[in-house]
Amino acid sequence: MKHKPGSPTGWAPTSDWIARSGQPLRGRIRVPGDKSISHRSIMLGALARGVTEVDGFLEGEDTRATASAFAAMGVRIEGDGGVRRIVGAGPNGLKAPAQPLDLGNSGTGMRLMAGILAAQHFASTLVGDESLSRRPMKRVVEPLRRMGASIATREGGLAPLAFAPVDALKAIDLVTDVPSAQVKSCVLLAGLHATGTTRVREAHATRDHSERMLRAFGVDVRERDGWIEVDGGARLEGTNIDVPGDFSSAAFFLVAASLVPGSDLVIERVGVNPLRTGLLQALWAMGANIDVENERVAGAEPIADLRVRAAALHGIEVPEALVPDMIDEFPVLFAAASLAEGRTVVRGAAELRVKESDRIAAMANALRALGATIEETPDGAVIDGGTLRGGALDSRGDHRIAMASAVAAQCAKGEVKIADCANVATSFPGFVALASSAGMAVRGL
Ligand code: S3P
Repeated sequence: MKHKPGSPTGWAPTSDWIARSGQPLRGRIRVPGDKSISHRSIMLGALARGVTEVDGFLEGEDTRATASAFAAMGVRIEGDGGVRRIVGAGPNGLKAPAQPLDLGNSGTGMRLMAGILAAQHFASTLVGDESLSRRPMKRVVEPLRRMGASIATREGGLAPLAFAPVDALKAIDLVTDVPSAQVKSCVLLAGLHATGTTRVREAHATRDHSERMLRAFGVDVRERDGWIEVDGGARLEGTNIDVPGDFSSAAFFLVAASLVPGSDLVIERVGVNPLRTGLLQALWAMGANIDVENERVAGAEPIADLRVRAAALHGIEVPEALVPDMIDEFPVLFAAASLAEGRTVVRGAAELRVKESDRIAAMANALRALGATIEETPDGAVIDGGTLRGGALDSRGDHRIAMASAVAAQCAKGEVKIADCANVATSFPGFVALASSAGMAVRGL
């Protein structure tokens, strides 16, 4: 058991896995719903007038925490098993929560909700677990303060975030310095409640799920001269949302099936938003054999079936322009690189150091424990591919480090013990069962 400040009980179980080389990955699978889209479906559904029905909702700890937070503000949210019916509270219908709202491990939950809570007539507080309480929140707190919000933080701009009631926010123009869909979305959500037109400009476009979904709710989100704009007072009307499979969850299977000889796997109904699929470009450049089949549209998002067959991978210099489009996929890219032929270089990815863990350090340590050659740099890594042996490593409570390590283990010449994997439930409940059904050898201890 491990202490988890911010979790309702204060304690949460940890769990360890054993992984080793298994069978070729074969058959057809579906991964759980997209985490980013699931969070947003609850938030926008709660702010809308009328009913929103969500299908394919991710039943992960992160997205359930967001749903619980809105339920604690009086929003009626019904359903389970990937289905939600949200009875929207309307633009001014949220109620003061009786207690701090606990967003667990979820950066998306905290940063996007900050944009909503900063604009309310009531006070509220957002708390998170140990990892979330270490992650930078100034990036949302500062622009929200410019809009007139009153937010108290722990020293250094860290959570908990305490919001004082406000009468009205005012619109701002924000030019983001770090590419972050969370910051952009936070400010656009606050902008819905502000007087005037709020505008955000990014040096590199980030995932546009918020913009697409806001439009599906009837909001006029404009893109003009490099600015993304929303007007204060825009009305959201309830709608139906079909959540695609999460590309970031599919990513583990794209790499595992590329690496394990004899694999031929189809992952159905995966979201292929071009601002999320940088890993496909990187894997293709490394020699992967992945076909994008049956491209179609689900609601506001493009989806496809991804067929992946094993291929000999070689190292690449990952183009910096791809980094924001694959920011969550670096742990598994590092695993692929450590087993590819030759050198892989990652630059311009310093953001990895402030995710659920320091993902550069966490992956470097994990793969080194299996004999890999990796040099960390401040904003990336240099990885020389080779073979991996068995060993013991620590996921540092980071879901993507745990799953990426299980993928690497499929090609290790011995048993791999992966510690502290309980947080896989934040984004990918059922990973062990699904991975096993596809042919991977991984089990809980
Ligand atoms: C997310 C944006 C990304 C990503 C996170 C989900 C989102 O974070 O890492 O897992 O849903 O907007 P940043 O925008 O901070 O890079």
